[in-house]
Amino acid sequence: MTPDRVRALLDRAVRIAARGHGGVEPNPMVGCVIAHDDATPIAEGFHRVCGGPHAEVDALRAAGARARGATAIVTLEPCAHRGRTGPCADALIEAGIARVYYAVADPNPIAGGGARKLIDAGVPAELIFHAGADELARPFIKRITTKLPWVSAKWAQSIDGAIALSNGDSKWMSCARSRAMVHRERGRVDAVLTGIGTVVEDDPQLTPRGVRVQRLPRRIVFDPDVMTPVEAKILEGDAPATLLVSNALDAAAQRRMALLRGRGATFLPLGPRDSLKDALAALAESGVATILVEAGGGLVGRLLREGLLDEAWVFVAPLLVGDASAQRGARGIDRDVLAAIPRARLLSVRRRGADALLHYRF
Ligand SMILES: NC(=O)c1ccc[n+]([C@@H]2O[C@H](COP(=O)([O-])OP(=O)(O)OC[C@H]3O[C@@H](n4cnc5c(N)ncnc54)[C@H](OP(=O)(O)O)[C@@H]3O)[C@@H](O)[C@H]2O)c1
Repeated sequence: MTPDRVRALLDRAVRIAARGHGGVEPNPMVGCVIAHDDATPIAEGFHRVCGGPHAEVDALRAAGARARGATAIVTLEPCAHRGRTGPCADALIEAGIARVYYAVADPNPIAGGGARKLIDAGVPAELIFHAGADELARPFIKRITTKLPWVSAKWAQSIDGAIALSNGDSKWMSCARSRAMVHRERGRVDAVLTGIGTVVEDDPQLTPRGVRVQRLPRRIVFDPDVMTPVEAKILEGDAPATLLVSNALDAAAQRRMALLRGRGATFLPLGPRDSLKDALAALAESGVATILVEAGGGLVGRLLREGLLDEAWVFVAPLLVGDASAQRGARGIDRDVLAAIPRARLLSVRRRGADALLHYRF
C-alpha cells in the first residue's frame, strides 16, 4: 500500500476516532481501518468507552474472517499489555492481519511495545506519521508524559476582540448554535474551570444542559481569595464544585470557606503566587483528564503565562463592539516586542450558525 493510501485511510481512522470523545478519556481516542492490500476498506472501528474494546478489536469484530491477510491502519500504536482488555497486538496477530500501519508511537511505558511484538511475530508494523492522528493523541501524550490534564479554553468574542463590554455585560456574544456546542462539550469533559471574575459577573451554573451528558463535569473556580458568594449558582446541582484557593488565607477568608463548605464546596490549594500547576496536577491525580476553561481574560492569561493552556476554541460573533476598554480574551501578558509572542497553530476554521469558530493549538 502506498504511503498516500495509508494516509488517506488514516484520515478516515482519525475521523471515526473522534466519535469516542467524552467516552474514552482518560484513554486516548483511537480509530482503526482494516483494508485490502489495494486500500479498499473492509471494516472500521474505534475506541468507544474507557474499559471497552480498543479500536483494533472493534474493527476486527466488524471484519470477522475477512481480516485474514488484510492490513490494519491504526491512529495509535497497538497496545502490548493486558489491561481491562487483552493486548491489541495479540488480537491482530491471532486474526491473521498481514501488516500494520500506525501513526503515533504509544508513549505509555506500560502499554507501549506493540509494534515490536507484531514484528517479532512476523507481522510488519510501520509508523507513518499523520498530523491529524498526532493531534488526536496529544491529550493522552500530555497526560502520560506530564501528569497534567488537557486544558481547552473557549470564549466568544466580537470581530474586534471583545469578550465583554467594559461593564462586564457579555450575554450573549455568540449565537445559540455556538452555545449549544459549548453545552455538548461540557458534557464530554471531566471538569469545567472558571475564574472568580466570571462567577461574580455572570453567576454561571456551568452545567451541560439540553444535550446528551456523557460525563457530569466537576465545576472548578479559580478563587484565590475565597470571594465566591454563598448563593452562587455554581454551588447548586449535582456536580461537585471545587474552589482553587490561595495557600495563605486570612481568618476572614477561612470563615468564608467554612460557609462555602456548608454549601458542599471543596477546596484545593494553589501554589506560590497562586500558580495553578500543582492544583491541576492534583486534579489529574484525582481522575480529571480533560478541562474546559470558560473564563474571562484574567484566568486565560494566567494559564497562558504558566504554559498550561493547550488549545482554544474561539467563537467570533458578527459584531463590532468598538469600545477601547472592553474586556479581552486574555490579559496580564505584557510584552514590548510582537516578535517575542509565541504563535498558536490554527487547526481549523468552521462556521457555526452566525459565528466563525477558530480552533488554535498552543
Ligand atoms: N465572552 C465569553 O466567552 C466570556 C466567557 C467567560 C467570561 N466572560 C466575561 O469575562 C469577564 C470576567 O473576566 P475576568 O478576567 O475578570 O475574570 P476570570 O478570568 O473569570 O477570573 C479570574 C480573574 O478574575 C479577576 N478577579 C475579579 N475579581 C476577583 C476577586 N475578587 N478575587 C480574585 N480575582 C478576581 C482576577 O483578575 P486580575 O488578577 O486581573 O484582577 C482573576 O485573574 C466577565 O465580564 C465575563 O462576562 C466572557
